[in-house]
Amino acid sequence: MSNIKQSGTFALGDHTVARLGYGAMQLAGPGVFGPPKDRDAALAVLREAVARGVNHIDTSDFYGPHITNQLVREALSPYPDDLVIVTKIGAIRGNDGSWIPAMSSEDLARAVHDNLRNLGLDVLDVVNLRLMFDTHDPAEGSIEESLTALAELQRQGFVRHIGLSNVTPTQIAEGRRICKIVCVQNHYNVMHRHDDALIDSLAQDGIAYVPYFPLGGFTPLQSTILSDIAARLGATPMQVALAWLLRRSPNILAIPGTSSIAHLHENLAAAECVLPDDAVEELDKAHRQANVSAI
Ligand SMILES: NC(=O)c1ccc[n+]([C@@H]2O[C@H](COP(=O)([O-])OP(=O)(O)OC[C@H]3O[C@@H](n4cnc5c(N)ncnc54)[C@H](OP(=O)(O)O)[C@@H]3O)[C@@H](O)[C@H]2O)c1
Repeated sequence: MSNIKQSGTFALGDHTVARLGYGAMQLAGPGVFGPPKDRDAALAVLREAVARGVNHIDTSDFYGPHITNQLVREALSPYPDDLVIVTKIGAIRGNDGSWIPAMSSEDLARAVHDNLRNLGLDVLDVVNLRLMFDTHDPAEGSIEESLTALAELQRQGFVRHIGLSNVTPTQIAEGRRICKIVCVQNHYNVMHRHDDALIDSLAQDGIAYVPYFPLGGFTPLQSTILSDIAARLGATPMQVALAWLLRRSPNILAIPGTSSIAHLHENLAAAECVLPDDAVEELDKAHRQANVSAI
C-alpha cells in the first residue's frame, strides 16, 4: 500500500496536509452535471481516499450542482479531525449545465450557505473565491467587492480561511490587501506552466499553490516523453505528471481527480515516485518545444 506521507506536507489553513490530496469534481455526472453513473462507486472512492491518508479534499457546491458535496457528506461525515475540505464559490450552474458567474455579495452568501448545508458543516475550512471574469482563464478585474463580501462571511464565522482561484498576480496582490489568502488554485501541470513565477513567489510567502487539471483535466495528458519516462521508472505517465508537480515546488498541493478506485490508488502511489534530474530536463525540453510549436 502506498504511503502518501512520502509526498511531504504543507500548511493549509489551520492544518498541515499531505501534499497529495484528492479533487472531487469527477464524481458528478458527465460535464460535472447531474448524478454519477454509479453512486456507490463514487462514495467508495471518497472513503478509500481518506482511508489511504488523504486529508485534503477539493470540492464545490457547483459540481453537480450540490451533488458532489452531498456525496462528500454521505461518504465522510462525521469528518475526521484532520480532514481539510476546500470548496469554491463564484459561479452557479444553468439548467443546461452552463457555468454562470455569481460573484455579487448576495450570490457569495448564498453559495457559502449552500456549501455549509450540503457538506453538513457549521463552518467551512477553506473557501476559494473562483473568479469568473473569464470562465476558463485568469482575466484582470477588481476583486475588491467580492472578496470584501467573502471576508465579511469569514468575520461572521462561516468561513475559516480564504483562497483565490483562476486569478492573476495583480488580483492576488489586491486580495492580500483585503484579507489573508492561504491558497491559490489555478490551471497548471507539467505541460501548462504559465504560473511558474507566481508559484515561486507564493512559496516564498508560505502560500499553498493548488494546481487544477494536474493530469490535464477533461483531456488527460498524453505524451511520448511522459510514457517513456514512466516506462524507465516502472511508473505510469500520470504518476510521472504528479511526481513532477510534487518536485516542482514545496508549496504545491496536488489534487488529482478521479472517479475510479484503481486510478486513485495509482495516483496516490505517485508519492513514492522520485523523478531523477534527467527526467525533469526531458520534461522541460518537451514543454519548451510544445510551447514553441504552439506559437
Ligand atoms: N478552480 C477551478 O476552476 C477548477 C477547475 C477544474 C478542476 N478543479 C479542481 O481540481 C481537481 C482536479 O482537476 P480535474 O479532476 O478536473 O482534472 P485532473 O485531475 O487533471 O484529471 C482528471 C481526469 O484524469 C482522469 N484520470 C485520473 N487519474 C487517472 C489515471 N491514473 N490514469 C488515467 N486517467 C486518470 C480522470 O478520469 P477517471 O475518472 O476515469 O479516473 C479524469 O478524466 C478537480 O477534481 C477539482 O476539484 C478546479
